Amino acid sequence: MRHIFEPGTDANAPTLLLLHGTGGTERDLLGLGRMISPASPLLSVRGNVLENGMPRFFRRLAEGVFDIEDLIARTEELNRFLDEAAAQHGFDRGNVVAVGYSNGANIAGSLLFHHANSLRGAILHHPMVPRRGVEIPSLNGVPVFIGAGTNDPICTRSESDELISLLEAAGAAITAHWEQAGHQLTRTEAQAAAEWFQASFGAGVGR
Ligand code: MLT
Repeated sequence: MRHIFEPGTDANAPTLLLLHGTGGTERDLLGLGRMISPASPLLSVRGNVLENGMPRFFRRLAEGVFDIEDLIARTEELNRFLDEAAAQHGFDRGNVVAVGYSNGANIAGSLLFHHANSLRGAILHHPMVPRRGVEIPSLNGVPVFIGAGTNDPICTRSESDELISLLEAAGAAITAHWEQAGHQLTRTEAQAAAEWFQASFGAGVGR
């Protein structure tokens, strides 16, 4: 997959997997990644699907209606790519934390829903429920930050609550951050994510 890899300065810091929103590119979240974890390696990936020229991580049939078959196949492709990228760039495959916005948050959520141990944690900015009616692999203690907007027309309050319940039922340790805003990723939400990351994975935490 087309991507940018920037090495980090702390060998123990998680690699951040950066996943853009619809119409974005692998350049979009580099600044956010550096803000969240200045010492981390950054792996920023471009979605392989084009919707009217706009990159995405999987196909959709309509706004908010996912092509589940494609979602499953693209999630598997991304998971395989992580194995390959870890070998190519020399980062620890077991120490990857996803940071996704919108469509990127949805494929990150789909990794958690479909592939055990695919992520050590995740920051999901404005995610939806990627899939319903499936058994989610154990996420025992996996830290997940969810940023949501009380007026987000794409990820409604009830959908955000449903996602939180599903992930919690699988054992994930959820921190939900609500903004009085819509679907946009605000500076205060990004700052809250950075603080959460430092508290969850900063020097001396975890490993
Ligand atoms: C999606 O299709 O993943 C969501 O609707 C978010 C977006 O608009 O990309």
